[in-house]
Amino acid sequence: MAGCFQDKVVFITGASSGIGAAAAEAFAKEGARVVLTARRRDRLDSVKARIEAAGGTALALACDVTQREHIDAAVEETVKTFGALDVVLANAGFGVSGVMEKLDTDDYRRQFDTNVFGVLDTVYAALPHLKRSGGRLGLVGSVLGHVGMAASAPYCASKFAVTAFAQCFYYDLADQGISVTGIYPGIVESEIRSVNNRGEYTGKKTPRPGGSPCPRRGRRDTSCVPCIGESLSASSLSMAKSSSPWHVIVPAFRAVSSASRAKAAWTRWSAPSGGTARNE
Ligand SMILES: NC(=O)c1ccc[n+]([C@@H]2O[C@H](COP(=O)([O-])OP(=O)(O)OC[C@H]3O[C@@H](n4cnc5c(N)ncnc54)[C@H](OP(=O)(O)O)[C@@H]3O)[C@@H](O)[C@H]2O)c1
Repeated sequence: MAGCFQDKVVFITGASSGIGAAAAEAFAKEGARVVLTARRRDRLDSVKARIEAAGGTALALACDVTQREHIDAAVEETVKTFGALDVVLANAGFGVSGVMEKLDTDDYRRQFDTNVFGVLDTVYAALPHLKRSGGRLGLVGSVLGHVGMAASAPYCASKFAVTAFAQCFYYDLADQGISVTGIYPGIVESEIRSVNNRGEYTGKKTPRPGGSPCPRRGRRDTSCVPCIGESLSASSLSMAKSSSPWHVIVPAFRAVSSASRAKAAWTRWSAPSGGTARNE
């Protein structure tokens, strides 16, 4: 039976681990030809091997989203290989953490280079091809693009920007036949906490930053995952209730969830609608 993304070409940034890798596998399972991009080539090759072993089709391309020429080359290679581009998932990102007094503006710039300008360059590089296919754009933000958290100012600011892009581009691209979906995960188990403030994978998990005052212990607690989960759940639920057309809330709010649970959410993101701009 044909999958709901059968033969669609899906381009994903940050596909070497976590949410991007899980999404790639989910799209491939639905029949998509997936293009996996990120900086770590060996990790991309492992994801590609898993997809192919399951009978899917994948292309792995090294690409740093802070380098516009890398993105242009990856998009060009995609179209050369598969002939089109139907879905773009701008997912690559990391988190700069620390209380604001301990950070300087370079920390914010570095964060924005990947999480904000990396997303923008991905969108602009793909736009001509999405216009041609009447395609679909998915921007991976965060619940922290709707609510601030302690010791997370650069990350939250970058994700608030992604929320704005999703909402504004939704209107701007509707008459081009391109649909835009903002995706705002809660806490998902991935490699994000093994990446340092310079955006480098270290292999060592750092504690979660910030945390609201713990209602159980009555003081700020930077390690109380259930408490952080609860505060994010509450804001996610109020967002869900507002039912704005451009929001997809990945059901991964309750404390720590797994990338495989987030994966299930992708199946709700149904196939491109053949040129009609649509959001859910
Ligand atoms: N995990 C969560 O709880 C959570 C919650 C809300 C939102 N998110 C968002 O979800 C997205 C995916 O994160 P994740 O949790 O799956 O973390 P992850 O496992 O660390 O994955 C991040 C991905 O982004 C890629 N990446 C980072 N910098 C890049 C760059 N300059 N160029 C190209 N690729 C780059 C990484 O690959 P390379 O290192 O190989 O380049 C990796 O594939 C991020 O935007 C993150 O902010 C995550």
